[in-house]
Amino acid sequence: MRTIIYYFTGTGNSLAAAKKIAADLGDCELVPIASYMDTTEDIVPPAGRVGIVCPVYDAGLPVIVAEFATRLSLAGTRYVFAIVTLGGTGVSALHQLSHIIQKKNSRALDAAFAVKMPGNFPPVHRPPQGKERDVILTAADKQLKEISARIKKGEQVTPGFSLLSSLMHLATYRFFAGAVHAGDKDFSVSDACTSCGTCTQVCPVKNIVIEKGRPVWQHHCEFCCACLHFCPVEAIDLHSMRGTKGRGRYRHPALKVDDMKVQAGR
Ligand SMILES: Cc1cc2nc3c(=O)[nH]c(=O)nc-3n(C[C@H](O)[C@H](O)[C@H](O)COP(=O)(O)O)c2cc1C
Repeated sequence: MRTIIYYFTGTGNSLAAAKKIAADLGDCELVPIASYMDTTEDIVPPAGRVGIVCPVYDAGLPVIVAEFATRLSLAGTRYVFAIVTLGGTGVSALHQLSHIIQKKNSRALDAAFAVKMPGNFPPVHRPPQGKERDVILTAADKQLKEISARIKKGEQVTPGFSLLSSLMHLATYRFFAGAVHAGDKDFSVSDACTSCGTCTQVCPVKNIVIEKGRPVWQHHCEFCCACLHFCPVEAIDLHSMRGTKGRGRYRHPALKVDDMKVQAGR
């Protein structure tokens, strides 16, 4: 059966997961969710099987993914699955997605999975490095193999439950989603900036322009933190919560600037 996987990624975990599932399923196309950013009409996938793969933000969905899902019209789809990648807790993102899909299509997700990968939000997680990172990625690869086998069999898999995630979602997600686009006011750039423009190239939603040799955020941020993690001289910092100075940077080892350019349609 032909499959389309829609993905969103900031640091490559979700793209790596999507690529692994695509390779196992065969006859599968990967489509960036960001490619629908400037459209308003319904999205009708030309495939019998549809997947959505994205990170968890504040125990919920990235806002761009939630908005995309409200337009996903699945009348011609036989099987729909979702995979969220997360640093620890956030399975409620899958409940949120299933609810949106149910509302639009009168059917829930057929299968929903959460895969632990390195946490990429330095104010909260210190992104794991070296062996610690590799152990997490190896376990994720193993889980993704099992997931593709279950998808191939057409299994029905309901999202797991975590009280902590539900409480986090209820307590904070609304505020995150309401403030996310303008949240980029908390990014800053130091004099270490070399004006290389990498931050503009990797931003999935084209939220950064270079003015007078420095990045300027345009307030339609999704908070994926690609700019922060890709900056080759660590000139970008985020000042919310504990901040990011000295807290490490992360991107999936397979992720290239070119992958991010493809996602952004550059
Ligand atoms: C703004 C933001 C919020 C996050 N919130 C959560 C969270 O609530 N729970 C969690 O387990 N991980 C959280 N994370 C970590 C990411 O979900 C995780 O690292 C994910 O695998 C990143 O995927 P990507 O590499 O495809 O962008 C958050 C990351 C960011 C940038």
